[in-house]
Amino acid sequence: MSRFSEPQDPLFQALDRSLEIDRRLWPYDVAQSRAHATMLASRGIIGDDDREAIISALDTVEQELASGRFPFRDDDVDIHMAIERRVTEIAGRSGGKIHTGRSRNDQVATDLALYARDHAVRLADQVETLARTLIDVAEAHIDWALPGYTHLQRAQPVYLSHHLLAYVWMLVRDRERFRFAARQADVLPLGAGALAGVNFDTDRPMVARELGFAGVVPNSIDAVSNRDFALDLLQACAVVSTHLSRLGAEIVQWSSQEFGFMELSDAWSSGSSLMPQKKNPDCGELLRGKAPRVVGHLAALHGVMHALPLTYNKDLQEDKEHVFDAVDTVTVCLDAANGMLSTCSFKRERMAEAASDENIAATDIADFLVKRGLPFREAHGVVAGLVRICAESGRKLSQLSIDEYQAQSELLDQDVYGLLEQSSWLESKISLGGTALPRVQEQLAQARAVLDL
Ligand code: ARG
Repeated sequence: MSRFSEPQDPLFQALDRSLEIDRRLWPYDVAQSRAHATMLASRGIIGDDDREAIISALDTVEQELASGRFPFRDDDVDIHMAIERRVTEIAGRSGGKIHTGRSRNDQVATDLALYARDHAVRLADQVETLARTLIDVAEAHIDWALPGYTHLQRAQPVYLSHHLLAYVWMLVRDRERFRFAARQADVLPLGAGALAGVNFDTDRPMVARELGFAGVVPNSIDAVSNRDFALDLLQACAVVSTHLSRLGAEIVQWSSQEFGFMELSDAWSSGSSLMPQKKNPDCGELLRGKAPRVVGHLAALHGVMHALPLTYNKDLQEDKEHVFDAVDTVTVCLDAANGMLSTCSFKRERMAEAASDENIAATDIADFLVKRGLPFREAHGVVAGLVRICAESGRKLSQLSIDEYQAQSELLDQDVYGLLEQSSWLESKISLGGTALPRVQEQLAQARAVLDL
């Protein structure tokens, strides 16, 4: 029997059907159905014979799904209905008992929480792998100088190791975000029923233990309407994608002929279909280009959740595509970043040449004056004057005479020429977190300790 006397419109069916998206939840749906049936039998809500018939049918269903031989039907609206339908075909009347004390509302929330937890844990590990690679690359280029930039103008030289470690710290925070998302997904929604709880004396903690959850959601209304764990996972995905986009963008710049700081391996480059000389950094560009898509998924799920009345609404069916695509995208991007970085090579000479632009020492001359008693703002003005003389006369700072220096400030003497030697600009950055080599060594050790390396 059905409550309806007319068939559904095929257009509505097409809109409503979510199987193509949610079928990948099947391992979680099978696992929770096993745990649920086991609990129902342990409470005497279904018989042991029912449990056996259900579990054995679930074993068959699992094999069929794993091997791609599951007989999906056009009227399977989602993975939950498909699995229940098939269990009932195999187990007969006992199969009809699997949905006792369960609603698709707590069922889908449980599947998604299991998925989110697994992938958040996995992505935290993947982030860690990339951080390790970056640490190795940093260590291999510990004292290779390159210009640091602000506004994409050469600002102050830094060591490549220092620059790469900046990304390591981003990834350390990303790992934390994924771990947080995993904890948020680690409580069991199942047992909430449609929204109010169920008419049976179930054992939710038992189901939680079976599925490896740390606890159960304490409120049945929250259990079926909560998707915060999905937002948290998407947030972690969005932020790490943004980090990868910055890394990708720098690789695009660095590998250009204009910069010439690095070369990508052939394995991580593309050619041009037209111009035979080209070696394109498509991987870096895609790290840059994929990020807005992931951030878009986060914004879209916020949109779905916004002002949504409690409890379950079909809007929630729209959560999964955003989560899945964000997770898939970040998974491939993290692997790609790892592959590209572990095979690229840096050009020491080119970077050193760019870092030896003497104008980069301007701040150092100002600080030299400060150490001799001039207020910083006045020192800034003195050096601006020197840089201007250089620009107007087409010379470098080291080519100005001592008289020219002293005309700007009597505090300047021969020592100023020592400041213009390249290594001094790096090794003078001795403050905690600075680019001086001993500080970078400290930082490397700290990063290794945080990552348990
Ligand atoms: N496919 C649905 C979803 O993804 C499952 C839950 C359906 N619940 C309902 N009351 N219609 O949200």
